[in-house]
Amino acid sequence: MPLRAVPASGRPRRGGVLRSQTAPGLRLLLLGACLFAWPWGSEAAGARRPNVVLILTDDQDDLLGGMTPLKKTKALIADMGMSFSSAYVPSPLCCPSRASILTGKYPHNHHVVNNTLEGNCSSKLWQKIQEPYTFPAILRSMCGYQTFFAGKYLNEYGALDAGGVEHVPPGWSYWYALEKNSKYYNYTLSVNGKARKHGENYSLDYLTDVLANVSLDFLDYKSNSEPFFMMISTPAPHSPWIAAPQYQKSFQNVSAPRNSNFNIYGKNKHWLIRQAKTPMTNSSIQFLDEAFRKRWQTLLSVDDLVEKLIRRLDFHGELNNTFIFYTSDNGYHTGQFSLPIDKRQLYEFDIKVPLLVRGPGIKANQTNQMLIANIDLGPTILDIAGYDLNKTQMDGRSLLPLMRGTSNVTWRSDVLVEYQGEGYNGSDPTCPAMGPGVSQCFPDCVCEDAYNNTYACVRTMSKSWNLQYCEFDDQEVNSIKNHPRVANFINHGSKFFTWVSIKDN
Ligand SMILES: *[C@@H]1O[C@H](CO)[C@@H](O)[C@H](O)[C@H]1NC(C)=O
Ligand SMILES: *[C@@H]1O[C@H](CO)[C@@H](O)[C@H](O)[C@H]1NC(C)=O
Ligand SMILES: *[C@@H]1O[C@H](CO)[C@@H](O)[C@H](O)[C@H]1NC(C)=O
Ligand SMILES: *[C@@H]1O[C@H](CO)[C@@H](O)[C@H](O)[C@H]1NC(C)=O
Ligand SMILES: *[C@@H]1O[C@H](CO)[C@@H](O)[C@H](O)[C@H]1NC(C)=O
Ligand SMILES: *[C@@H]1O[C@H](CO)[C@@H](O)[C@H](O)[C@H]1NC(C)=O
Ligand SMILES: *[C@@H]1O[C@H](CO)[C@@H](O)[C@H](O)[C@H]1NC(C)=O
Ligand SMILES: *[C@@H]1O[C@H](CO)[C@@H](O)[C@H](O)[C@H]1NC(C)=O
Ligand SMILES: *[C@@H]1O[C@H](CO)[C@@H](O)[C@H](O)[C@H]1NC(C)=O
Ligand SMILES: *[C@@H]1O[C@H](CO)[C@@H](O)[C@H](O)[C@H]1NC(C)=O
Ligand SMILES: *[C@@H]1O[C@H](CO)[C@@H](O)[C@H](O)[C@H]1NC(C)=O
Ligand SMILES: *[C@@H]1O[C@H](CO)[C@@H](O)[C@H](O)[C@H]1NC(C)=O
Repeated sequence: MPLRAVPASGRPRRGGVLRSQTAPGLRLLLLGACLFAWPWGSEAAGARRPNVVLILTDDQDDLLGGMTPLKKTKALIADMGMSFSSAYVPSPLCCPSRASILTGKYPHNHHVVNNTLEGNCSSKLWQKIQEPYTFPAILRSMCGYQTFFAGKYLNEYGALDAGGVEHVPPGWSYWYALEKNSKYYNYTLSVNGKARKHGENYSLDYLTDVLANVSLDFLDYKSNSEPFFMMISTPAPHSPWIAAPQYQKSFQNVSAPRNSNFNIYGKNKHWLIRQAKTPMTNSSIQFLDEAFRKRWQTLLSVDDLVEKLIRRLDFHGELNNTFIFYTSDNGYHTGQFSLPIDKRQLYEFDIKVPLLVRGPGIKANQTNQMLIANIDLGPTILDIAGYDLNKTQMDGRSLLPLMRGTSNVTWRSDVLVEYQGEGYNGSDPTCPAMGPGVSQCFPDCVCEDAYNNTYACVRTMSKSWNLQYCEFDDQEVNSIKNHPRVANFINHGSKFFTWVSIKDN
């Protein structure tokens, strides 16, 4: 039997397998927190509050054609709504970025600094201090939404030291979360807190399809008396890039784009970029081209998921009352500045992501150029539900006015990009010359990360400016500290800094 959202005993009960922890009387009282005048105009007057779906992919770039394979998604979401052409992540790494989506906060406020428990990725402290205040938790407890999660959550989710897969974060009525990091086969799901193992039979286990199937089941069996929020978080196109069998021959003629910084030595860049070898070896180029093709192949199953989901929403008459967001947790690079494959850098290819939305009141085929960050998703979704954002501690702001096409909105011109590099204390035996302190040194001992790949940037964008300013926490401060232009920054305790050219990345 394929995995279904339906528990073994039959249809899910109202409120899900996990019973609502809020008593009915109290619940009614709390719902007052979200009762509001729905602002979309008279056509929707009296209508139920809108549903929201958030589709989150893993490592899908915007700059190198990441959306190209998703033809149906383009037609069904972008062409029916709005594409944000300047959408950024405040940290180009899965766990910090996902924590920013869930909390609406910058990393310096949610304290998830890397992909490990020690760095607060799904740690006990995260569970205690941040998780109860994520936007899904507010949606469920304060606004009475049914909430459904399927897919990859935080990289360390399910770790034994942090409660194992029995831990179901507050905020979710239905919970189908992947244990640990992205996989396609041979994985464990937490099904409402119970471990369910999957093997490697395509028609039973292919994770992107399992996520599609449990999502459709949720739509078939959910309660019709409350609005719902779904977050579907695919492993694709993260490594190990295993495509569905029917897509393994796709894109045979596609190679990674040879854009202006492909296989170029980043001579003015910070240390980590300069240690990359230029030109890259032929085998590195072959490897990254292969990775590029396979990433696109895995996205074809995501495109199918989006189509099935939208058809099912339509079948149930929910489509015109549902906002559907599509985005990724960070970008990706394949050969830029001679770094073979990864994210973790402060350049556009890694920090810029696709962001599409359709929904009631959003006109078709629009592009919005305002500077957006994923910390805006939580506030936007709470705003849709009618929750007073002044009651939250979120750093982001609601995109609703932009989605409605309000023309005189005063918008921000800056977002922060913050990253604490990952490293290891021992030398990597395959690259002894590179360690200690570095990580991700593959292929050809080119390291994609290091403890000192630690930086804080301001990405600025307005009518008159398109800039990025960064400061690094590394040793190079010593070599430039006598430079008159930087003296001021040094005095303020800052380290090596640079203006990043937007043109060349
Ligand atoms: C959106 O634009 C595409 C062309 O990019 C066009 O084919 C489509 O009909 C448009 N959709 C709507 C709803 O206007
Ligand atoms: C982890 O989170 C806690 C609570 O937010 C914070 O006190 C601690 O400093 C964080 N750890 C790191 C390494 O940032
Ligand atoms: C899944 O696990 C089986 C048994 O350990 C192994 O033979 C197979 O190679 C694995 N498949 C994948 C795709 O990881
Ligand atoms: C995979 O599962 C399907 C459906 O249960 C079954 O028909 C098929 O035989 C299985 N394939 C393998 C290789 O076990
Ligand atoms: C998903 O559902 C379809 C239709 O019921 C089924 O054919 C397919 O095998 C299922 N896939 C997985 C991975 O469960
Ligand atoms: C790849 O092949 C497809 C059809 O198979 C074609 O439409 C496309 O233009 C080709 N792309 C390149 C880069 O040759
Ligand atoms: C690498 O590829 C280039 C271009 O395809 C070719 O000219 C060169 O001979 C190759 N080098 C090696 C060592 O194979
Ligand atoms: C959605 O469509 C139905 C049927 O056409 C209509 O009754 C309802 O008012 C629409 N809802 C919205 C929010 O437009
Ligand atoms: C939220 O705070 C702002 C600034 O203090 C204020 O202008 C606005 O009216 C407040 N909104 C609500 C719903 O109270
Ligand atoms: C935007 O325009 C509307 C309608 O003209 C007006 O009510 C509102 O105050 C304006 N907002 C700003 C920020 O200028
Ligand atoms: C993650 O961050 C923590 C806290 O700063 C640090 O102790 C740990 O070494 C980091 N992990 C990696 C792999 O860099
Ligand atoms: C960064 O760390 C690496 C490895 O620990 C070291 O070799 C390198 O010199 C450091 N670079 C800077 C600029 O601090």
